[in-house]
Amino acid sequence: MTVELRSDNAASVSPAILEAMATVNSGSALAYGGDEVTAALENRVREVFEHPTARVFPVLSGTAANALSLSALTPPWGSVVCHETAHIMTSEGGATSLLAGGAVMTGVAGEGYKMAPEALQAHLDGVRWGDPHHSQPTVLSLTSPSDYGTVYSVPEISELTGIAKTRDLRVHLDGARFANAVVATGATPADLTWRAGVDVLSLGATKNGALSAEAIVCFSEAPADELVYRTKRSGHVTSKMRYQSAQLLAYLTDDLWLRNARNANERMRELCAGLGSLGIPLLNSPDANLVFAEIPDAVADRLETSGVLFYRLGGQVRFVTSWETTPEEIDGVLGCLGRQADPR
Ligand SMILES: Cc1ncc(COP(=O)(O)O)c(C=O)c1O
Repeated sequence: MTVELRSDNAASVSPAILEAMATVNSGSALAYGGDEVTAALENRVREVFEHPTARVFPVLSGTAANALSLSALTPPWGSVVCHETAHIMTSEGGATSLLAGGAVMTGVAGEGYKMAPEALQAHLDGVRWGDPHHSQPTVLSLTSPSDYGTVYSVPEISELTGIAKTRDLRVHLDGARFANAVVATGATPADLTWRAGVDVLSLGATKNGALSAEAIVCFSEAPADELVYRTKRSGHVTSKMRYQSAQLLAYLTDDLWLRNARNANERMRELCAGLGSLGIPLLNSPDANLVFAEIPDAVADRLETSGVLFYRLGGQVRFVTSWETTPEEIDGVLGCLGRQADPR
């Protein structure tokens, strides 16, 4: 048995997405996003997000989506206020600072990898506004789901954006796993984003079945106008964009994105319930598809030997489910752990 629980990035590509690429693979089409598929994608995004003027920029990675979005939202002297564990701050090699001309990121605390409103308020109250010796907060960046599998509810997002707007900060949402957040909350894409005060969304697709295809979705005009140039200068206006657009269009059609995310979230729920029954301590209570657990080294060794792939971080392990994880695979992992707990 081999069961992939290292990362949803390790999962393969949804067949429907590969088919969509094959479907557009006939004849010629205008390059650099001038094609009909890219136009259809923008229309589809406007429908899905109930926003008649939303604009879409396909890019190649989640890091690019975040760094480009933020570069269009902050001046170089600005600070992007994010959770202290945010992917943009801890895991993207400073891409945002590079593309945003030196803007910095400032981490704010909060339980469960979610920013606490009081911590955001305290941070903004402590800033020396107008003092050029200090970076000026210009953007609030939230991540949902977080890297801990936790998801912000609509009221939680609104509360944070409300605080940010009192200081004229613009708002970015890192939605590398946005579909998992939609499924987890049951809220509409519009309610989770622009209706809750989000200006720009990094809409992930790759972790949920696409092939190096992500999108920046702009709900306000100014960042979109800049992104026309910024995407080109950073090499993200690909000549054969129709193949990325076809993927994203298929992703947002017939609920593929939500079906894929629902599978990942449901498999995670089954896994957590099973780990709980086996008395294995969980370090987080995931809304989406990532969990951290405490498993003794010897048990983790045996699980690995049985063919289960996962990351080990000191005495902790991380399990991530994906669009293609099956109930049988989860049963297999739990069965394996159960046998180890009771070796009779
Ligand atoms: C929350 C979050 N944002 C952004 C990214 C970046 O995506 P990519 O690896 O495609 O650059 C990741 C990747 O794991 C992520 O977990």
